[in-house]
Amino acid sequence: MTTPKTAGAYHIPVLLRPSVEALRPERPGGIFVDATLGGGGHTREILRRMAPDGRLFGFDQDLDAAQNAPRDARFTFVRGNFRYLKNFLRYYGAPQIDGLLADLGVSSHHLDEGGRGFSFRYPEEQLDMRMNRQAGLTAAQVLQTYPQERLAEVFRLYGELRQAPRLAAAIAAARAERPIATCGELAALAAPLLPRDRERKELTKLFQALRIEVNGELSALQELLQDALDVLRPGGRIAVITYHSLEDRLVKNFFKSGNFSGTVEQDFYGRTAAPLRVVPPAFIAPPQEETETNPRSRSAKLRIAEKP
Ligand SMILES: C[S@@+](CC[C@H](N)C(=O)[O-])C[C@H]1O[C@@H](n2cnc3c(N)ncnc32)[C@H](O)[C@@H]1O
Repeated sequence: MTTPKTAGAYHIPVLLRPSVEALRPERPGGIFVDATLGGGGHTREILRRMAPDGRLFGFDQDLDAAQNAPRDARFTFVRGNFRYLKNFLRYYGAPQIDGLLADLGVSSHHLDEGGRGFSFRYPEEQLDMRMNRQAGLTAAQVLQTYPQERLAEVFRLYGELRQAPRLAAAIAAARAERPIATCGELAALAAPLLPRDRERKELTKLFQALRIEVNGELSALQELLQDALDVLRPGGRIAVITYHSLEDRLVKNFFKSGNFSGTVEQDFYGRTAAPLRVVPPAFIAPPQEETETNPRSRSAKLRIAEKP
């Protein structure tokens, strides 16, 4: 049962116009994917511009997003993880596509509504953080079962937290007494170990690190990009909106080189062999009017690439 905490919308779409325009959805008979349906903002805009004979597949691993699936004969909702893009498309008889958009991470709905346990702003909530509530470990289970060293690694790699070892040690000591069950319990445990003047920022990073781990976000993104490259037709485009440097680095490197280290390979004759072409500019950030009206867009970066 979900109890809305705010009267706000499910999610305000970020960088709506440039991301949808990048796909050139008007092309006749085009097949497109919105890998992250969420509140359906981007999907509705793609449909508005799409040709009558176009098709759009909207993915989301969270069943809550199904309520935002538009009723349009050209649209198919795929309730699943985008890491299986290629398999799902084959299943739906669309093995090749003309464009894919991914607007990564969680939606406002996840952060603000329905007891999903993503944020220390709601201390009483159970630490869940799963976008797909039918699979995987909850954040509380991760905190309870991971070895201390692995927790430290998660906080260091995904939160870039200097206090990662101390945080992991404090969690290991606390859980030996009793499980850390709520967002408030985790925040209370971590806060004294963080610099006072940056406490909220660092807590945000800690919660983000856990969320990335719980949802396997970076591996899902890597699999998505690899599948997208395979299914894209020549001339087709990928547009990705990222919200933190870890995912942005993966996208940037992949667009540049076709791999995640960003090393452009050369053939025997010294010719470079990148499978995608970056569509300039290198990235697009939201204009000031957008960041003012929608603070969640502040860290967004849109990158676009085309298959030659
Ligand atoms: C930032 S929101 C998308 C918002 C959407 N563009 C809009 O304008 O309303 C990201 C959405 O992607 C979904 N999501 C994140 N990772 C996913 C994955 N690996 N597979 C499928 N859906 C995913 C989340 O559940 C969330 O609803």
